[in-house]
Amino acid sequence: MMKVVQGDITTLEVDAIVNAANQVMLGGGGVDGAIHRAAGKELFDACLKVPEVRPGVRCPTGEARITPGFKLPAKFVIHTVGPVYRDGQHGEQEKLANCYRNSLALAAENGCRSVAFPCISTGVYGYPVEDAARIAVSEVSAFLTSHADMTIAFCCFSDYDRQVYEKLLKTGGWINV
Ligand code: APR
Repeated sequence: MMKVVQGDITTLEVDAIVNAANQVMLGGGGVDGAIHRAAGKELFDACLKVPEVRPGVRCPTGEARITPGFKLPAKFVIHTVGPVYRDGQHGEQEKLANCYRNSLALAAENGCRSVAFPCISTGVYGYPVEDAARIAVSEVSAFLTSHADMTIAFCCFSDYDRQVYEKLLKTGGWINV
């Protein structure tokens, strides 16, 4: 099932929380910074061990990598890298959809039954939250048709984001994204 929650994703007692990371995957600001602070230094060390696919890139945009959660209540952290939003004409939609698809696949492969997503790319990376939310809900909804036993939470940090997601879930406004 899908649900919307509001608050700090680092406090959620779920099997996996998803991190809106960058390609270097060694921490940053926003939710990335919060997750690294809460998980502790072992998370940084675990990320350092993730092999680079090319110099300075451990996780290409749209892909996902999994590490333990260490000091977090969550068992795992799934790191994914959203697209930097330019104008919506540079494949941003597909890249963002891939973040959700690949994170969900990784969660299922690792036996996670409960997963929480932040609003990927809608902070520093500038993706309009309404457009991003439609993609997020559409991808999660499609995934749940074959994984009905999983619970996916959209963890919104702000009131506004929560309202966007709640409206979408209520009106089914994501269909035909
Ligand atoms: N819990 C839940 N959501 C949070 C938290 C938190 N503790 N902190 C921030 N957020 C929200 C933001 O309000 C925003 O809605 O996460 C969403 C994503 O914003 P960012 O963290 O800025 O992520 P993103 O836009 O994907 O940019 C990623 O920012 O922090 C750097 O290293 C990161 O380079 C990467 C870039």
